[in-house]
Amino acid sequence: MERFEGKVVFVTGAASGIGRATALRLASEGASVYIVDVAMDGLEETAKSCEEAGAAVAFARCDVTDEDEIRSNIAACVEKFGKLDTLCNIAGILLLDHFGNITADQFRRVLEVNLVGTFMLSQAALPHLIESKGSIVNTSSTSALAGMPYGAAYGTSKGGVSALTRTIAVEFGKQGVRCNAVNPGSIQTAMTGPGAVPEDADMRLLARAMPLDRARGPEVVAATIALLASDDGSHINGEEIRVDGGTLA
Ligand SMILES: NC(=O)c1ccc[n+]([C@@H]2O[C@H](COP(=O)([O-])OP(=O)(O)OC[C@H]3O[C@@H](n4cnc5c(N)ncnc54)[C@H](O)[C@@H]3O)[C@@H](O)[C@H]2O)c1
Repeated sequence: MERFEGKVVFVTGAASGIGRATALRLASEGASVYIVDVAMDGLEETAKSCEEAGAAVAFARCDVTDEDEIRSNIAACVEKFGKLDTLCNIAGILLLDHFGNITADQFRRVLEVNLVGTFMLSQAALPHLIESKGSIVNTSSTSALAGMPYGAAYGTSKGGVSALTRTIAVEFGKQGVRCNAVNPGSIQTAMTGPGAVPEDADMRLLARAMPLDRARGPEVVAATIALLASDDGSHINGEEIRVDGGTLA
């Protein structure tokens, strides 16, 4: 059974990692996908893979900090595919540094991409989601649930994403729109590669046991996003699901 047959999904951050895996997962379950990012090479590759999976695909540049680009892309998606069923807010940036080193500009930039971007995309998409009785899936993080050393800006942005998710869930639930989030732990993507933590980080602060046998890639998060966006998640609203192998269990 293809859970997304006849559904139209808009995915941000689709050029790599969790965004790419999500676009592919939803495409392979029958969705038409409108995918955006600022990294056009990676985005084109994702689009090709989605096409190979048999999906109708459109891709375009959209900086999630640019309200005009957001509004024109949401409009273009609805123009092309006739409606919008699901918005997946996945684009994000990581900044890990000592508390005292993080500048106010860096702090604002992280909030701008991770939190304000999620807000602006949701605001632009909601009129269409109300029409389709669709849903939003946001990408929070375990850093929204437990302190993350060096993550003052990042963890704060994700805490905001979690709060925003619950707000939208209760404000729009009566209109048939659900809003949920995933909280990935450490997932192997470009974001968590070399250089993610400061060179002189105190590794004792970062050690937290992950009970499962091995680390996982972005597909595990994509599968959870697919569950939340699909009819299998039809009574899940305002929820966050940890995808962290039990790290915070
Ligand atoms: N990888 C992890 O361990 C992990 C853990 C928790 C949460 N997350 C979250 O998952 C999401 C995806 O991260 P990922 O691990 O796939 O990283 P990634 O770096 O592979 O992908 C992030 C994507 O977002 C895009 N992006 C960045 N700024 C943008 C902007 N202004 N406008 C549009 N696109 C922009 C990038 O070009 C990139 O393609 C992020 O929100 C991240 O915070 C990741």
